[in-house]
Amino acid sequence: MILSIDQGTTGTTAFVFDRDGNLRGRSYSEFSQYYPQPGWVEHDASEIWQVTLKVCAAAIKRAGIEPSELSALGITNQRETTVLWDRATGEPVHRAIVWQCRRSASICRELRNAGAEPMVRAKTGLLLDAYFSASKLRWIFRESPELHRRAEAGELCFGTIDSWLIWCFTGGRQHLTDHTNACRTLLYDLDRRQWDRELLRMFDCPAAILPEIRPSAGSFGTTDPAAFLGASVPIAGVAGDQQSALYGQGCFEPGTMKNTYGTGCFLLASAGQERPLVPEGMLTTIGCDAKGMPQFVIEGAVFNAGAAVQWLRDDLGIIHQAAESEKVAQEIPNTRGVYMVPAFSGLGAPYWDADARGAIFGLSRGAGRAEIVRATLESIAYQSHELAELMARTLGVELECLRVDGGASANNFLMQFQADISGLRIERPRQIESTAVGAALLAGIGAGIWQSESLPASLQDIEQDFLPQMSPQTRQGLLAGWRNAVSACRHF
Ligand code: G3P
Repeated sequence: MILSIDQGTTGTTAFVFDRDGNLRGRSYSEFSQYYPQPGWVEHDASEIWQVTLKVCAAAIKRAGIEPSELSALGITNQRETTVLWDRATGEPVHRAIVWQCRRSASICRELRNAGAEPMVRAKTGLLLDAYFSASKLRWIFRESPELHRRAEAGELCFGTIDSWLIWCFTGGRQHLTDHTNACRTLLYDLDRRQWDRELLRMFDCPAAILPEIRPSAGSFGTTDPAAFLGASVPIAGVAGDQQSALYGQGCFEPGTMKNTYGTGCFLLASAGQERPLVPEGMLTTIGCDAKGMPQFVIEGAVFNAGAAVQWLRDDLGIIHQAAESEKVAQEIPNTRGVYMVPAFSGLGAPYWDADARGAIFGLSRGAGRAEIVRATLESIAYQSHELAELMARTLGVELECLRVDGGASANNFLMQFQADISGLRIERPRQIESTAVGAALLAGIGAGIWQSESLPASLQDIEQDFLPQMSPQTRQGLLAGWRNAVSACRHF
């Protein structure tokens, strides 16, 4: 039995898989989101640990096993989110600054104005954007010279959520991360595959706070029974959630790709051992080859997808459950010209505009709840379409099909609209939680339960295809409207 933990932006899910890849138990819980100022997003790392423990216990119970029967544990996580904690007490010293948080945009602007972007892009494959961890750390240290002093004295630990959870699971014995998470910090040299002194200096980040980097399948220590349900279980797989989903979808070969519909949308394609040339707007990052060793990946990221549906539910209150959006959208033939751009935290690929903000356009008196719900779902497909187009151009290929996964991929309306607006066949696997599947597979390989040549195939079966049905004229008209809406919300 393998326990796979998916620590996402809005909730944590634990899954228990057996040796044949069957799902035996599962549990999910959301946790608090803090929005102290417009564009700011924070989490409480201690709450994340407590929620993680709770869902692990519940999933293990549902699987009908004891924690001691687990052979391995895999962790996959929201990336970039920045945690800083006290090495002696294990207590966080600051709220976790979430990947979506824009508070450090001005730090990035300063560095860009100082001409640092080309060096950063060459070294990290990323951009000078508040999305990534380093400027968040820089922001904390600027606000608190005392924390900076303590960091230099080696009294603090920095980590993305994977590091934080490994630390908690091992009772503070291990301070580790993997390449797929390290490469999202803006402190990691993509070619040398290690922390980079020049970047550390630029972000004024003391090396003493950094975790050690390991390959995604292998040893990350053993859980401390006093911290984890009385059991000592090897942590054998760790990967950032998007690279984990790519692995879970079996996309190891260069050119294979997937799109995950989570809080955001992330389209990733494996690129092999040679660093690819990518256009502006796309990121080069690290994923895993079949054995879980680092290889290059190309990524396009949009910040708000499922998050926009949650906004409909939690802030507007016009749906009770995310799944209800499918039925509401299907009640009407179109949005009557309404567009919703969910740029709550700026726009990611291909725009990378930290200052854009969300908006709803095209309202007429006849437009109401159903139009807004439908326009929100459509916005997810439009954004994914832009990613897919850019990815096809980057790879120099004509796409025919897109493999999808993640919570919102269960939405049949969204998948059909995605097929229509992109003119692509959409392939949805039976197990849409590819992120968790990836971490389970990496842990199984890391613990020697599975070999990369003989992974349980059941985990990647296709459940349903969605074929494009929209006329080219309708498609072009809708896309033109979307582009207008995006441009308007960038100049608001
Ligand atoms: O880069 C952010 C990403 O890892 C968050 O993923 O699944 O929480 O939307 P998710």
